[in-house]
Amino acid sequence: MNALIPRPPMEIAPGAVHVPGWLSLDQQRELVVACREWATGPVPIRYTRLPRGGVMSVRTVCVGWHWQPYRYSRTADDVNGRRVAAFPGWLAGLGRRALVEAYGDPAACDGYAPDTALINFYDGESRMGMHQDKDERSGAPVVSLTIGDSCLFRFGNTETRAKPYTDVELASGDLFVFGGPSRFAYHGVPKVYPGTGDPATGLASGRLNITMRVTGLPSEGPPGEG
Ligand code: SIN
Ligand code: MN
Repeated sequence: MNALIPRPPMEIAPGAVHVPGWLSLDQQRELVVACREWATGPVPIRYTRLPRGGVMSVRTVCVGWHWQPYRYSRTADDVNGRRVAAFPGWLAGLGRRALVEAYGDPAACDGYAPDTALINFYDGESRMGMHQDKDERSGAPVVSLTIGDSCLFRFGNTETRAKPYTDVELASGDLFVFGGPSRFAYHGVPKVYPGTGDPATGLASGRLNITMRVTGLPSEGPPGEG
């Protein structure tokens, strides 16, 4: 992105906030390293099969809980049956700081404890259709981070996949939070812009998106293993 063009934080809809350039280059690099590690296992990154026979065009790896359409489990029963990597405390801390930043309120993160992250890798042809994040049993906000190539992010309404929606360009380092009245809004990624990322992030091509969520599912075991 051209740093000479200011991109101030913007409320896209009530409870939905875009914070351009929130992550530093160092933070992006660290996230790329972590995602690369998770992509290798215990549950390797894969193209998710949809119940009707289709395959998603993004590749996905999860931490904390494994997502498959349309439920969460601790083990990746549709991949290799292994338990997914634990959700690290440092990532939860980043999620909490994201809420404070997006909502401009130090109390915005009170009680916020994300326990899963879906990490999606987009190549130049990948897309994501309009959908709601509704497999969680919690209305806590979703925190979304972008690294690498920019994309067109379409943020709609809670009623229908169709208009009204707002198109936003998400670039490397951008934060997008959707909570409150926008938590169950339809959203999607109609287009990725290949070659727009900075290889200094450690990602030579493609787009990485990390969404942190609260599943609302019961955690077992000692705190920190959730
Ligand atoms: C998602 O909706 O789960 C991903 C959104 C994005 O890639 O920005
Ligand atoms: Mn989503």
